[in-house]
Amino acid sequence: MTPADTIGRLRRMVEESLAASFASEASRIPSPLREAMEYSLMAGGKRVRPVLLLSAGLAVGEEEVGLLPFACAVEYIHTYSLIHDDLPAMDDDDFRRGKPTCHKMFGEGTAILAGDALLTDAFRVMAQSPLARIDPGRAVRAIADIARAAGGGGMAGGQQMDLSAAPGRSTAAEVDEIELRKTAALLASCARTGAILGGGSPTQTGALGEYGTRLGLLFQVTDDILDETGSFEEMGKGIAKDRARGKWTYPVAHGMPASIERASALERAALDAVSTFGAEADPLRELVGMVRNRRK
Ligand code: IPE
Ligand code: IPE
Ligand code: MG
Ligand code: MG
Ligand code: MG
Repeated sequence: MTPADTIGRLRRMVEESLAASFASEASRIPSPLREAMEYSLMAGGKRVRPVLLLSAGLAVGEEEVGLLPFACAVEYIHTYSLIHDDLPAMDDDDFRRGKPTCHKMFGEGTAILAGDALLTDAFRVMAQSPLARIDPGRAVRAIADIARAAGGGGMAGGQQMDLSAAPGRSTAAEVDEIELRKTAALLASCARTGAILGGGSPTQTGALGEYGTRLGLLFQVTDDILDETGSFEEMGKGIAKDRARGKWTYPVAHGMPASIERASALERAALDAVSTFGAEADPLRELVGMVRNRRK
């Protein structure tokens, strides 16, 4: 099995597990909240974060099954962040994952609640996982790590900085800080959490966290580049919007050649962070190439 095959296998496991996890609670959720949550969750994202978490688990020698609830939970959290990111009060976008955004389909109130519910349910899914019974210590560390990455000091804080940024007055350090918080924090937590849950040593966990930060920064700078060079058909969301809105993205602040150079440097840095691992980290290496070369 090639590393790309492994990624494909993990992605299929995540899809199945997400569907099952959502179905197990769905009957309790009133309409149209249920439909709105399912619409966004099952709209066919790339599933990078859950696959990253499972791949980090594999890198420290852990089978993926016990980690699946945590993989689902990070995709719940990510999906909530996209629903809220697209709202008129934030980026005001009409398309996501190739379909109309959640608020376009269900209205703003229901879209806000769908985000709230997905975020909250993520923590239920983790707390109810078999691993939380078998090894509560590990599970609590992982849950705290994810909460810290998604909360006010992490992703939500980064989204605030993205909102508050005044057009045209960004410094390099401020752009880095926004990208670090709004996107890299959660990806870093996925990599670290996979290692924590998989029983990795502190050194391994630290290395995988560093890898995740670099991969996360690469992910966002690539997203920013694709906003200028990608296509709506491939991306499944509106493009050419960041510059017009005065967003502080890397290409807006530094230009395209510097952004491409930055992506190459981050690609090397991410690979470097896992250089002490053997073949068990090949899926993580494959993910770096996939993120660097993605068109969607
Ligand atoms: C989009 O994330 C938001 C960013 C952090 C740039 P993805 O590109 O992972 O979106 P999906 O999940 O594949 O739709
Ligand atoms: C979103 O960044 C980061 C999140 C935490 C959701 P963007 O605003 O650049 O993401 P897209 O381009 O809308 O997917
Ligand atoms: Mg945004
Ligand atoms: Mg956006
Ligand atoms: Mg973007």
